[in-house]
Formats: sequence, structure tokens, C-alpha cells
Amino acid sequence: MAFPERVELVEVGPRDGLQNEALTLPAAVKVALIERLAEAGCPVVETGAFVSPKWVPQMADTAEVLAGLKRKAGVRYPVLVPNEKGLERALAAGVEEIAVFAAASESFSQRNINCSIAESLERFAPVAERAKAAGMRLRGYVSCVLGCPYEGAVPPAKVVEVSLALERLGCEEISLGDTIGVGTPQKAQDMLTAVAGELPMARLAVHFHDTYGQALANILACLELGVGTVDAAVAGLGGCPYARGASGNVASEDVVYMLDGLGIDCGIDLAKLAEAGRFICEALGRPSASKVALALAGRTP
Ligand code: HMG
Ligand code: MG
Repeated sequence: MAFPERVELVEVGPRDGLQNEALTLPAAVKVALIERLAEAGCPVVETGAFVSPKWVPQMADTAEVLAGLKRKAGVRYPVLVPNEKGLERALAAGVEEIAVFAAASESFSQRNINCSIAESLERFAPVAERAKAAGMRLRGYVSCVLGCPYEGAVPPAKVVEVSLALERLGCEEISLGDTIGVGTPQKAQDMLTAVAGELPMARLAVHFHDTYGQALANILACLELGVGTVDAAVAGLGGCPYARGASGNVASEDVVYMLDGLGIDCGIDLAKLAEAGRFICEALGRPSASKVALALAGRTP
């Protein structure tokens, strides 16, 4: 077991975070957040989602956000796409990277994207084909890898099956999502070990929500197995609109602080990242969910 030398942090706050905040922010504020995150050194900032605005109104202005963004050279700005309509919107907005999202639980798939897992994979096939033909990079998410809000425990074998299906569709990277944040370190390792038995670790990412306060411990457990890509949201924003009670992603500031302490390079300036977190918390009128951000600001939770 060895930690990776470098970790790529995928900043998902502007999408996974803001999709579930009660307050829908103006596009200009989202742009300012994304630019601050890029300036802090985030190599990948998930910028929005071309999903149905009826389902997730908070993401309705993704095209406007992308149009207003000064893109920083070397930074990737992926967006979520659930179907061909979403892909067309992404192509029109000049997006270079998209993520499709499936689930390891049937009930969650139905609630989140209104179809079965098999139907979602069928729906993604033409999306993936067209995205590849347009030269886009493709990421695949698997949700509910450690538990489902409707079905409870999810077997690692199901996570492996859906991950492989996404890989066959052409996803370069598979992000394994503990959507409702119920996982614990041993379970996280067992699930990651099962998937890494079938796919190279270098193509896997971990995505933990922090509902039960286990996210950082789970990430550490997965780093021990050598995972090199970690999703996180600045200030621990958000949750998931189709997973009641799920809290935000692990806070990016907390992950970066831990990586710094472990001597693992991620290229992100913690002070600038925390500043981006302060900016967005002020805009939302809510406190940060990052303990590191609070400590740096001289406050305790
Ligand atoms: P549906 O209602 O079955 O779809 O929703 P539909 O094809 O019947 O379309 C319904 C209406 O939406 C139509 O409009 C479509 O045109 C429109 P109407 O004719 O009624 O006026 N529509 C769209 N509009 C804009 N962009 C589109 C689009 N597609 C349809 N792309 C659908 C199916 C998949 C569209 C819907 O369920 C949906 O958008 N779901 C997205 C839900 C979502 O965004 N969830 C959060 C992201 S996943 C997540 O957070 C987990 C993750 O973080 C990892 C983890 O934590 O595990 C990734
Ligand atoms: Mg998520």
C-alpha cells in the first residue's frame, strides 16, 4: 500500500454543490467562483450541468456561466450531461469534457434520471459516441457505490458491473460516488479494491459526500490503495437533490490540507482556495462546512 505522489483534485462545488443549495445564484457569481477556483490552482472545475431545468433549476444557467467564463489555460471545465439533448447544449457551449452519470442502485437511477440503470446506459451510448467523435473527454459517474437512500446497502459487484459498462461506453475516468455519505473506510476500500480488480486504479476517482463525517477518513483509506483522483467541493457545498438528507461533498479545503500534510502534491494554493470558499459562502449567506476554512479564518464551528 502506497500513497500516490500526486493527487488530482476535481473541484465539483460549482455543480454538485450549487445544484442543491436553496438559493440559486446569478450566473455572474458562479463565474466569479469558478475563476477563483481556477486561480487557486484547481486543475479541473466542474462548471455546471446540462440537465433538465425542471429537474434541477439551479443548473439552468450553465450555458450562460460558460459564456461568461474566462477560461484559464490548462484548466478543464467539465459539465454533466444526461442525454443527447444535454450533449447538444454542451456542444453549442464549446464544452470539451462531459460527464455522464449512472447509479449502482435501480431506485436511485429512477429518482435521479427517471429510468432504469440499463436504460440509462442505452441513453448514454449515443451521447458517448457523439462526444468522442467531437473530441470530448468523457467521465462516468457511478452513484450510490456505498449505499442507496431507497435500497440500503449496495453490493460492490454491482458497482463493478456499472463501472465496466461505463468504461465500455468510452469513459476515460470513472468516479465512484458515495452519494449519501454513508460509507466507512473499510467498506470504501473493499468497494475500490473490487473495481480496481477490473479497471486500472489510474482511471478511478473517488467522490465522497460527508453526511456522516466519514469522507476524509474514506479518502485517506482510498489514497492508501493508490487512488490518484479525488472529487471535492469548496466549503463542502451542496448535497444531491434526489438523495434526501445527503449533505455536501467533502470540503476541498479539508482535502488539500490533508494532502499537504501527507506531502502529496495537488498544485492547489490552500489560502486562495479558502478565499474562494469565503466568497461563495458570503454569496449564499451560509457558513462554510470546511473545518479547515473555519480554522484558517480564526473561527471554530
Ligand atoms: P425526463 O422527464 O424523463 O425526460 O427526465 P424527458 O426526456 O421526458 O424530458 C422532460 C423535459 O425536460 C422536456 O421538456 C425536455 O425537453 C426537457 P418539456 O418538453 O416538458 O418542456 N429536457 C431537457 N432540457 C434541457 N436539457 C436536457 C434535457 N433533457 C430533457 N438535457 C432527465 C430525464 C434525465 C432529463 C432528468 O431526469 C434530469 O435532467 N435529471 C438530472 C438530475 C440531476 O441532475 N441530478 C443531480 C446530478 S447526479 C449527482 O449529483 C450524483 C453525482 O454527484 C455523483 C454522486 O454523488 O454519486 C454525479
Ligand atoms: Mg455528488
